[in-house]
Amino acid sequence: MQEPLIASAPIVVGQEVVRFDAEDKARGKAKFADDLIFSSMLYGSVIRSTRPHARLKRVDLSPVTSHPNVLCTVTADEIPGENVVHVIYDDQPVLAAEIVRYIGEPIALVAAADRRSAQEAACRATIEYVDQPAVFEPRIALAPEAPRVAQPAVSENGNLFNHMRVRKGEIDRGFAEADVVVEGEYHVGYHEHVYLETQGMIAVPEEGGGIALYGSLQCPFYVQAAVAQVLGLPLAKVRVIATAIGGAFGGKEDVPSQIGALAALLAWKSNRPVKLVYERKEDITTTSKRHPATLICRTGAKRDGILTAVEMEFFYNAGAYQTLSSAVLWRAIVHAAGPYRVPHVKVDGYSVATNTVPCGAFRGFGSPQVIFAQESQIDRLADQLKIDRVEIRKRNALVIGDKTATGQRLHESVGLQTTIKRAVDLVKWSDRLAAIRKSNSSHHAKRRGIGISTVMYGVGMGGKAPMLEKAGAYIKLEPDGSISVAVGNTEMGQGAMTVLAQIAAETMKVAIDRVQLVPVDSSRVPDSGPTVASRTTTIAGLAIIDAGQRLRRRISAVAGELNINTEEGITARINEIARHMWMENINMGALGWAEGKPVDWQMEEGYGNAYFVYSYATHIAEVEVDLITGATSVERFIAVHDSGKIINPQTAAGQVEGGIAQGIGYVLTEEMISREGKILTDGLTAYRIPTIADIPQAVVVEFVEDPYPAGPFGAKGLGEVPLMASHAAVANAISHAVGRRLDHYPASPERVKELLSYQ
Ligand code: MOS
Repeated sequence: MQEPLIASAPIVVGQEVVRFDAEDKARGKAKFADDLIFSSMLYGSVIRSTRPHARLKRVDLSPVTSHPNVLCTVTADEIPGENVVHVIYDDQPVLAAEIVRYIGEPIALVAAADRRSAQEAACRATIEYVDQPAVFEPRIALAPEAPRVAQPAVSENGNLFNHMRVRKGEIDRGFAEADVVVEGEYHVGYHEHVYLETQGMIAVPEEGGGIALYGSLQCPFYVQAAVAQVLGLPLAKVRVIATAIGGAFGGKEDVPSQIGALAALLAWKSNRPVKLVYERKEDITTTSKRHPATLICRTGAKRDGILTAVEMEFFYNAGAYQTLSSAVLWRAIVHAAGPYRVPHVKVDGYSVATNTVPCGAFRGFGSPQVIFAQESQIDRLADQLKIDRVEIRKRNALVIGDKTATGQRLHESVGLQTTIKRAVDLVKWSDRLAAIRKSNSSHHAKRRGIGISTVMYGVGMGGKAPMLEKAGAYIKLEPDGSISVAVGNTEMGQGAMTVLAQIAAETMKVAIDRVQLVPVDSSRVPDSGPTVASRTTTIAGLAIIDAGQRLRRRISAVAGELNINTEEGITARINEIARHMWMENINMGALGWAEGKPVDWQMEEGYGNAYFVYSYATHIAEVEVDLITGATSVERFIAVHDSGKIINPQTAAGQVEGGIAQGIGYVLTEEMISREGKILTDGLTAYRIPTIADIPQAVVVEFVEDPYPAGPFGAKGLGEVPLMASHAAVANAISHAVGRRLDHYPASPERVKELLSYQ
């Protein structure tokens, strides 16, 4: 019998506990992957393809091995296990054996006594290629005569990796019932994570023929599985330890499996620890990004703005290998119609192979692209029907009892309408509209605009990967009454360890400063799935509650023997109780477990219950556009979120503020330029992320807490949602300011000038 998850009066849950890792990171004390040094450690470097599509005619490493400081090289034919980087499909080789399919693809490895020697030696490799025709654009790659990129094993239909669909109602009827239909086509390019710490791993041979991987990673169990497969080792001989992580944003979901495999091969061959840390340029040009996309939309509504039909077709450029694209595409189709009540829905998503760097996970995981399109379409309808843009959203926004675009009936925790109302109140929407109208009529060099976006987010893995919806937690009461907690999900800057410690302290009824989250090590807890999909607080939190309750039952029994019969008494005398348990040889450890509630997704039909719960948000942005330069500045930002109970308002607000900044970069400044598969914007002078100067001074963040009864203390996911909503609010504000629809990211000064030139 489970005890209720919502405590009568939470003590530390809901408090602004300062992040445990804040001081170490601020003072430079935290140990990131590149800070770790092992005795007799070598430095690895990767020899990469310079061609987008070619047959390897000759790989000559003799100039590499002749370098005086080189100790080891590895080529594809030496791999002891399977030559694949396992993610979802096994299509990506660790080292190219015959064919290279993108610029930057690993061909061979070198390890040397120092980093510079490794890099110098790698440059000496002689690779002879026979160039093959290449293709870079999804819709060109889908033509029957296009060069074949995708391998037949993972794609029966030429370069089409995946086609996924949502079908609800009858789309033709939906458009027949519409009084107005709006159409749009939208384009977005790459979006690079720019985590502060570049990708890096250290592989260390361990006693008994095993190997340990230390690194900057989100998913210890993914790396464990990938490395075991490449080295041909049992999983029990591969251990993965997460070091301090300088940001990830999804970029360290699948890529560490590749880097881990590369480092592990060098460590296996040399029998020495090997560090492989990417330079920024190498990181930008060879690791995953958000998928570029083209989205084609048709949306129908009645005269009063009530939606009747949403039709969307989109093409995501997956790059040369599948990696996570099928999962990304699935999240995209499910989120395409937005948080609205739509009776007739037809969504077709295509992920397509091209001779470009494989795309992967990035905060929002395929949803920001469709949200840009759908939120623009809603504004188009509002404009055409002359309905206020807030009003049209209120009329269509989901409430309890409604069915989502995939036909899922919502039974609980739907705070969407409240987020809209609160955001509109905070910004004083009507007043701002009037003020903007007045300002625009009197200023000739600047024009203001305001935009709103509303989003929903399916928390966790959902119906595409229910087998990953699990987590373990191990709690140990130490004999001195302190508590150590081990989980399998990582801290990547989102504040997870602090929030999980709060949940542990609350469950164990002890002061937060007695709780220590130990470094994440895959050998400590059962496979807990990946640290993705805004799932950590909910699923690892539930596992901690489960472990804590098991341990609490033993503690309470012992306390009773000691005549300590109140919770306050247990809290006050936990040292004594712990000591007594130790003396009496009572088990002081407990393994907790959590698994997601069942979902019911029909993949072929494109219909069903996609996720077990959703989070919601409304963002409002006000911008000023310089009519002479085309430059846009964001002047004001309001973000209101429903992520259920907020465990730590400070870390939660930090997540939202970061997501706003990242979204401003996506829509305004970040443009990755690629020509024939070669990324030209390979540094941070050319690829411009926002600075503090690009963030408005007036940022208001609020939470409406519509509790999710099955979540830990009522919590749902938050991490990705802020980024999903922010860019679209800015995009709609720009369109409002310039009087034309922005349909292409980023809204660079050149693009904004072009929009203005139509007037
Ligand atoms: Mo995340 S983009 O689900 O790692």
